[in-house]
Amino acid sequence: MSACRRGEYSYIAIHKRNNYKGPDSGALFIFNMFYQNTKSIAFPGVKEKLASLQARIGNTPLISFPNIFRKDQVMVYAKQEWKQLSGSVKARAAFAIVRDALERGQLHPGKILLDATSGNTGIAYAHIGKFLGIPMTLCLPENASAERIEILRSLDVKLILTSRFEGTDGAQETARALAENKPDQYFYADQYKNENNWKAHYEGTGVEILRQLPGITHFVTGLGTTGSFIGTGRRLKKKDPAIRLISLQPDNPLHGMEGWKHLETAVVPQIYDPWLADENLEISTEEAYEMIKTVHDKEGLILSPSSAANLVGALRVASQIEKGIVVTLLPDNADKYGELIKKLLK
Ligand SMILES: Cc1ncc(COP(=O)(O)O)c(C=O)c1O
Repeated sequence: MSACRRGEYSYIAIHKRNNYKGPDSGALFIFNMFYQNTKSIAFPGVKEKLASLQARIGNTPLISFPNIFRKDQVMVYAKQEWKQLSGSVKARAAFAIVRDALERGQLHPGKILLDATSGNTGIAYAHIGKFLGIPMTLCLPENASAERIEILRSLDVKLILTSRFEGTDGAQETARALAENKPDQYFYADQYKNENNWKAHYEGTGVEILRQLPGITHFVTGLGTTGSFIGTGRRLKKKDPAIRLISLQPDNPLHGMEGWKHLETAVVPQIYDPWLADENLEISTEEAYEMIKTVHDKEGLILSPSSAANLVGALRVASQIEKGIVVTLLPDNADKYGELIKKLLK
């Protein structure tokens, strides 16, 4: 890693503070040279630390549910996405977003990572940020589970809690306004718009599924930022256009699947591609909660609401086909939903 003296970073910082409009071409060369160096010293040991983090992301194991689903020639599998850094599927997107911002020099000392999240992306950012020394400000709906809020606070994240009635749309709006007001202070990661979100699944989740289950015929998962469905789906379609992609949504705007969006009434994420899914199914909160109880009773596993809802969708698809391999994701486990689980499993 090339060394860079402190003064060189200050050079850029001072010009930024003075609203410096840009150097002439000779100066630009020097500016870029310094800036490259700044990127490499941006956060101490960043390259090595990114490699350590990378090794802890993805490659999640499959699970089947033999006590709740058996049918000749039809198999259902789910990827246990909580078995990776920070305990959820969102480690993939958060890592790809942070790494790209560091590589491009959008995130460097003096900048704060800012985003809106329903919780899991925030927890992933917080793990990554704490390790790399990146300060974080996150906007999240005030009704996010107590465990999520506590984890984020314990990792030194500055939290801005937004109205429970506006869901993640309200959190997004707050984050966007903050980023517009103070562009010098924040790197606005914007997971709903950031291409690295779906690409993380294109390069990761999709490739892993094809390696683990080359005979996959159906992929089923719920839509939040939509990154996991779009990225995984695009990779699977590229390999075999006959693989059917089924997206899931809650059946109404006021639902209990934390992390999901009701796209008909929500702000549609910019990374969403409405033409990708072969089919869209609606899942009710009641079905998801019932599935939490069933999986607990029959398989001894406690799922989160969105994981249970994904399984409801996968089993519905599996019940309608005569032959195939249906794959879904379990975005996180029940660790962050204590209050709900206590009620459901009493
Ligand atoms: C628990 C949970 N399930 C599902 C999702 C949806 O995943 P995606 O944002 O990739 O659409 C999220 C996203 O935050 C989540 O936290």
